[in-house]
Amino acid sequence: MASVITKLLFFLFLWYSLICLASSVRDDYFISNQDLDMVNSEKEVSELFQAWKQKWEREYQTLEEETTRFETFKSNLEYIKERNAKIKSSSDYSLGLNQFSDTSYEEFSKIYLLKTTNSIIKSDLVGTEMSNITVSCPNATSSLDWRLSGAVTNVKNQGACGSCWAFSATGAIEGINQVVSQWLPNLSEQQLISCDKNNSGCEGGIHFEALQYVLKNGGIATERDYPYKASNGVCNCTLETNNKFATIDGYNYWWNSPIPEVSLFCAVAKQPISVSFFADRDFMSYKSGIFDGANFTSGGSCGHNHAMLIVGYGSLGADNDYWILKNSWGTSWGQCGYVFIKRNTGLAHGVNNINCAGSYPTKQIK
Ligand SMILES: *[C@@H]1O[C@H](CO)[C@@H](O)[C@H](O)[C@H]1NC(C)=O
Ligand SMILES: *[C@@H]1O[C@H](CO)[C@@H](O)[C@H](O)[C@H]1NC(C)=O
Ligand SMILES: *[C@@H]1O[C@H](CO)[C@@H](O)[C@H](O)[C@H]1NC(C)=O
Ligand SMILES: *[C@@H]1O[C@H](CO)[C@@H](O)[C@H](O)[C@H]1NC(C)=O
Ligand SMILES: *[C@@H]1O[C@H](CO)[C@@H](O)[C@H](O)[C@H]1NC(C)=O
Ligand SMILES: *[C@@H]1O[C@H](CO)[C@@H](O)[C@H](O)[C@H]1NC(C)=O
Repeated sequence: MASVITKLLFFLFLWYSLICLASSVRDDYFISNQDLDMVNSEKEVSELFQAWKQKWEREYQTLEEETTRFETFKSNLEYIKERNAKIKSSSDYSLGLNQFSDTSYEEFSKIYLLKTTNSIIKSDLVGTEMSNITVSCPNATSSLDWRLSGAVTNVKNQGACGSCWAFSATGAIEGINQVVSQWLPNLSEQQLISCDKNNSGCEGGIHFEALQYVLKNGGIATERDYPYKASNGVCNCTLETNNKFATIDGYNYWWNSPIPEVSLFCAVAKQPISVSFFADRDFMSYKSGIFDGANFTSGGSCGHNHAMLIVGYGSLGADNDYWILKNSWGTSWGQCGYVFIKRNTGLAHGVNNINCAGSYPTKQIK
């Protein structure tokens, strides 16, 4: 009896979460791409800008700022339309307006992204380096979505703080804890930002350095106990010492040396995985479809400026395999806060260097 009810509840939940996803897609889509193509004259663009400002509750202090923002908006709109027309012939993702549309890519990079530097790693890493290890997993299913088994918290929003690395790390720790205990904690990015001195808070950091901090600290507090402030702040040592809510046993990582894609696949088959990524101008305005990095060339290097969490994978027909990634830019960005990234492209670095750096915590069932 009890198990029937559990099953029923599970299916209700599944059904609800799919409906919920579909309806929030509708709500968040401010204007469709067909409609964007009809916005051409200065007057139409200006009207769209006013509507956009209202949607995002944007107010500018001076007329001068309003003018500058309008010019940036216009330039972003032109870029979106131009790219959508180009992408159509080669790929199947599309760009759209979102909360960043009055921000230039340069400004966006400074506020939300990391500086592409290696200098953040200071500590002697105790994790296991995985870069050149090839793993196989013949029994992994051909598609997987950790959201459906309850291993992923709601999409969060980092705000105007370069803390993607902290969100990527908490997501991975939340995930492994749910996988081994069936119970999903909601963990504190703020503790990582304020207390982990080997990362640099809102100025940037690395997901596996954050795992090292949690390992050495003996745990991490919940979102509720140590709430998000989107600023560096001073470490609350009382919380750090006393609220060790979720723990990890260790961690594996790869850094500036791509992991074989099959190894990444096998890692995701076991739990949600943190990865670094190069967020380019297309990615800033990503709206839907499978992102394949059509506007990005790695130039042979493993550069990255962002971090996210892989929460699953699937395929849309032959030669169209994708990862599902959770981002930390709120639910209005992309597909309800998620993005599909093409996989099995044959690129050693993966799309926008997604294979280049990643990590995951380990934890045994106790
Ligand atoms: C931070 O880095 C220093 C220097 O390598 C190291 O001794 C220390 O253990 C690190 N702390 C954490 C929490 O990783
Ligand atoms: C992995 O292998 C490549 C190519 O042999 C090498 O350049 C790189 O240093 C290796 N990375 C690690 C972390 O061992
Ligand atoms: C795959 O599943 C088969 C049948 O259950 C099992 O015998 C085998 O050990 C599994 N292989 C791996 C690598 O887990
Ligand atoms: C976890 O915390 C975030 C940020 O406060 C919140 O949006 C979310 O609803 C919480 N719970 C879950 C299950 O995601
Ligand atoms: C740390 O957090 C606790 C519990 O929320 C609070 O009572 C205390 O005032 C905080 N300490 C500092 C220094 O902010
Ligand atoms: C990126 O897009 C712009 C604008 O469409 C184009 O000029 C540029 O060549 C593209 N770059 C790459 C690497 O595809």
